[in-house]
Amino acid sequence: MRIVLVGCSGFVGRALVPGLLEAGHSLTLVSRAPQPLLGLQHPQLQRLQADPANPASWQQPALQQALAQAEAVVNLAGEPIAEKRWTPQHLQLLNSSRIDTTRALVAAMAALPEGQRPGVLINGSAIGYYGTSASQEFIETSPAGTDVLGRLCVAWEQEAHAAEALCRVVILRIGIVLGGDGGALGKMLPVFRMGFGGPIGDGQQWMSWISRSDLCQLISTALVDPAYSGVYNAVAPQPCNMAAFAAALGRCLGRPSLLPVPGPLLQLLLGDGAKVVLEGQKVLPKRLQEQGFAFRYGELSAALASATS
Ligand SMILES: NC(=O)c1ccc[n+]([C@@H]2O[C@H](COP(=O)([O-])OP(=O)(O)OC[C@H]3O[C@@H](n4cnc5c(N)ncnc54)[C@H](OP(=O)(O)O)[C@@H]3O)[C@@H](O)[C@H]2O)c1
Repeated sequence: MRIVLVGCSGFVGRALVPGLLEAGHSLTLVSRAPQPLLGLQHPQLQRLQADPANPASWQQPALQQALAQAEAVVNLAGEPIAEKRWTPQHLQLLNSSRIDTTRALVAAMAALPEGQRPGVLINGSAIGYYGTSASQEFIETSPAGTDVLGRLCVAWEQEAHAAEALCRVVILRIGIVLGGDGGALGKMLPVFRMGFGGPIGDGQQWMSWISRSDLCQLISTALVDPAYSGVYNAVAPQPCNMAAFAAALGRCLGRPSLLPVPGPLLQLLLGDGAKVVLEGQKVLPKRLQEQGFAFRYGELSAALASATS
């Protein structure tokens, strides 16, 4: 397949791009950076510099041509959620980097003549869609939360749903992605390796996780298998609470995991952004299981062993 990739130069993209190249696909990687931080050279990998949130970017002839020639689009663009305090300006960026990007991308797809439009759009979303809860379980049909991230995800998904008039659309509500070189685990690892790790906050919050390698496999599968359509919870079947996660990580590294990281300290550092790790949600991959998606790392200890090896 010829695939246009947006927002795929980061933590997920680093694993996704080599996997798609290995599978024989031809890729156009759209990035705001002149040289996206992937360090990859491959004859089937083309790079285009553009700000995908800006509709004018999609008027660039090279990008229009790439889109018109593509059979598929993957859009994971989004400013990192839990790295900075949520000032009004930063909140605006969290929203616009997802919602405006998806809107501009779908508009560019709609502007193509009918026979030239990509056949499938795989679009990111997040389990923050459901809001947070200590006790509820969430499946794809559960209602959206009304907090900041819930509202963001609803608006983000709405823009992706608009592409359903044009092509097959797959929306992935992504859980906490486990990989050793980034994301939440990448931040926890150095502390745990020094033996100072422990649960963050009271340890009772749910963590609905997915190994990065299973997420990439899911994206690869959904690209080529027309049975995939609509919204999916991209999480492993065994969510756990933070205390169990910290204990499993300690065991995996052969280090103690006793020192809790106090919630108020994180709140001081991250403001509302701390909410992402201090509160969680128990999300189940109902539709993926119904569809028979085979998780390679469906069990936490195996996912952690693979991510930290
Ligand atoms: N990692 C997780 O645990 C997790 C969990 C749930 C959902 N997700 C979602 O999955 C997607 C990919 O996650 P990731 O961990 O790979 O994220 P990441 O490493 O932060 O990469 C995000 C990508 O989005 C683009 N981006 C960042 N800021 C942007 C902005 N202001 N405007 C337009 N594009 C921007 C970047 O592309 P360029 O800099 O090349 O333009 C980058 O390739 C994100 O949308 C994220 O919200 C991730």
